[in-house]
Amino acid sequence: MKKKSNEQIVDLKTQPIPEGHHLLEVDNLKMYFHTEDGVVHAVDGVSYTLDRGETLGVVGESGSGKSVTAKTLMGLIPMPPGKIEGGDALYRGQSLLSMSEEQMQSVRGNDIAMIFQDPMTSLNPVYKIGRQVGEGLRLHRGYTKEQAEQRAIELLDLVGIPEPEKRVKEYPHQFSGGMRQRVMIAMALACDPDILIADEPTTALDVTIQAQILEVMQEMQQKNGNAIIMITHDLGVVADMADKIMVMYAGRPVEFGTADEIFYNPRHPYTWGLIRSIPEQAIDEKQPLTPIPGNPPSLVNLPKGCPFAPRCVYAKPICHEQCPEHHTTETGHYSACHFADDLEFLKNAPDTSRSRKNNVAAVEEMNMVGGEE
Ligand SMILES: Nc1ncnc2c1ncn2[C@@H]1O[C@H](COP(=O)(O)OP(=O)(O)OP(=O)(O)O)[C@@H](O)[C@H]1O
Ligand code: SF4
Ligand SMILES: [Mg+2]
Repeated sequence: MKKKSNEQIVDLKTQPIPEGHHLLEVDNLKMYFHTEDGVVHAVDGVSYTLDRGETLGVVGESGSGKSVTAKTLMGLIPMPPGKIEGGDALYRGQSLLSMSEEQMQSVRGNDIAMIFQDPMTSLNPVYKIGRQVGEGLRLHRGYTKEQAEQRAIELLDLVGIPEPEKRVKEYPHQFSGGMRQRVMIAMALACDPDILIADEPTTALDVTIQAQILEVMQEMQQKNGNAIIMITHDLGVVADMADKIMVMYAGRPVEFGTADEIFYNPRHPYTWGLIRSIPEQAIDEKQPLTPIPGNPPSLVNLPKGCPFAPRCVYAKPICHEQCPEHHTTETGHYSACHFADDLEFLKNAPDTSRSRKNNVAAVEEMNMVGGEE
């Protein structure tokens, strides 16, 4: 990243969004890794927009490029081996990819904060929890040590950690997995970020804690009007909280639309597979849970044609020859399937007319259980 001397570092979240721009605009972003085994096409043409108060769900199987997309926005991909191969990402109209490292340090944590996938490796084992939670406030807001610790106590309380006065003085290994995840959320919330990126924040947690954690993030959003990017392999997790959903497969966005479009009018067979893997949906259709058969392709040697073709039960000869373009509707709902506009073909989609309501009810029930604890 370019370094500029005597650069004026700006708190970007206090700047107005220039007219004609969104809070975040990701446009045909490509990030490849150049490795000894070849070029890994980890992020290959990701595009979306996000506004304040909105939640974007990013869904896809393991290795589909969800985390690398988010880390690219945060300037956290080591280059090399990573290299931006095209596209851009604008935050409040400014390119995140061409910012100086100094400006990027101000953006990270302050304007855009990320809850990382693995809470243990993201917390420093040798520092007390209070110091780690308050670090951003000292760095970006000029808090004193005492002020930062006081705010850390409030934040731990906010995310539901009992006895926060005592817990700020403890170390990460003294916290359970669920509690560490909450610490990560407290750290991410500390500076009231404009965009909160939550990378699988609930994996490996039991459903009650999952519901509580999602609730904390939503409460913060209602209070601050920030945007959330929720990354998950489980479409069910974002069913009720996302406004927009991007489905990723093999580093590419294969479908993008509003949550209603993705659930009630999905246009890509991979999305259909994800929907059929949601337990509530399977129950509603009175069908057994159907995981998508097969494995995603290597991102080094992508098959010719549609990357999903080797696993797609609807594939036709053209699918193995030509890579599908995005077929976009007037509302911006796109699908990278040759047959996304073919009404006969779309009849193969799962019937989700009732299942999402069931899913909402199930999550509400979980929230009630969570709230009683
Ligand atoms: N530093 C790196 N060097 C080379 N390849 C990498 C590097 N980091 C990630 N990758 C590759 O980029 C691809 C996308 O990885 P990413 O972590 O974004 O997947 P993901 O969708 O977040 O998966 P998961 O659900 O398992 O977290 C994977 O094939 C991964 O192996
Ligand atoms: S383009 Fe062909 S292989 Fe790809 S998702 Fe559509 S039907 Fe399946
Ligand atoms: Mg990941």
